[in-house]
Amino acid sequence: MADWTEYLNFGISVAKQAGEVVLTAFQQQKEVKLKSSPADLVTETDQRVEKILIAAIRNQYPQHRFIGEESVAAGERVELTDHPTWIIDPIDGTVNFVHRFPFVAISIAFTVNKQVEFGIVYSCVDDKLFHAQRGRGAFLNGEPLRVSGQEDINQCVVVTEIGAERDDLALSTMTSNIFRLLKLPVHGVRALGTAAVDMCQVAAGGADAYYHIGMHCWDIAASAIIIQEAGGVVIDTDGSEFDMMSRRVIAASSAAVASRIAQVIWPFPCRRDDEVHHKCVHGETGVDRL
Ligand code: IPD
Repeated sequence: MADWTEYLNFGISVAKQAGEVVLTAFQQQKEVKLKSSPADLVTETDQRVEKILIAAIRNQYPQHRFIGEESVAAGERVELTDHPTWIIDPIDGTVNFVHRFPFVAISIAFTVNKQVEFGIVYSCVDDKLFHAQRGRGAFLNGEPLRVSGQEDINQCVVVTEIGAERDDLALSTMTSNIFRLLKLPVHGVRALGTAAVDMCQVAAGGADAYYHIGMHCWDIAASAIIIQEAGGVVIDTDGSEFDMMSRRVIAASSAAVASRIAQVIWPFPCRRDDEVHHKCVHGETGVDRL
C-alpha cells in the first residue's frame, strides 16, 4: 500500500492555515451571493480560501489536479481522473458561516486512480482536526477514532441534512424520510449544517448513522474515508457501492444499520456531480439538479 503521509501532513498544515482565515472572517460582516437556490450560499471567504488552498498545494505539487467547490461553481468541470487529485470544500457549512452558527469545516480529500487515499476535515471553530489515511486508521486531533458499532436501528442517533433544495419534491422527500425514521423509531435525528462535520460525528461514535441526498463530492469525500477507517460502512442510498459522484450517501456504524436506513429512505432525482455544469454568476441561480 502506498504511503501518502508526506502529502497528508502537507494537507493538514494548509488546512490549519486556511482555518485561521475562516475563523477571522467568521466574526465579520459577509457579502453573500446565491448559487443553485436561495439556501445555497457563497461568500468572498469561500472563494478566497479555495484559492489559498489550491495555490499552496499547486506550489508544492505542480502536477496535481483539483476539484474545488467554488472553482466548479465558477464553471470548471468535475473531472476525476487517475491523476493525483485534491477535492476541496473551502467552507463546508457556508450557511452556518454566514450566520455564525459555530459548525464550519474545511474538507480536503486526496485521490489517486479515482480512489480516496486520505481525508482531512478541519472543524475550525472548535479546533477539531479529523483525518484518515487508507489502511492507517482515523484520528481526531491525533487520537484514534472508532464508530459506535451500534447494530440496532432503534438505538440510533441518525444525522442528516436539510440540504439547499427548496422545490416541493425534494422538500417532501426529505421531510418524509425524517418522518419514517422517527416512526421506526430511532433515538433521534440531528443536523449540524455541515455534511463533513455530521459524518465525523459518526466516525467519532457520537452518532450512529448519517444519510444525505443532494450533497456534492467535495462535501463528503474526506469524511467518507474517515468513517471507513474508523470502522464504519459507507454505501449509496439504494444499498449499492458508495459513489462519491452520485450525490447520495448512507454512512453508518454497522452494515446492519446502513441497510436498514436504505430500506426506509427514498431518494429524489439529482444530477451526478460529474455530469453537470455548475455555474454561479453573481447571485444568479446555477443549474445543478434535474
Ligand atoms: C453544504 C453543507 C450542508 C448540506 C448541503 C451542502 P456547503 O455544503 O454540507 O450541510 O446540506 O447539501 O451543499 O455549500 O456549505 O459547502
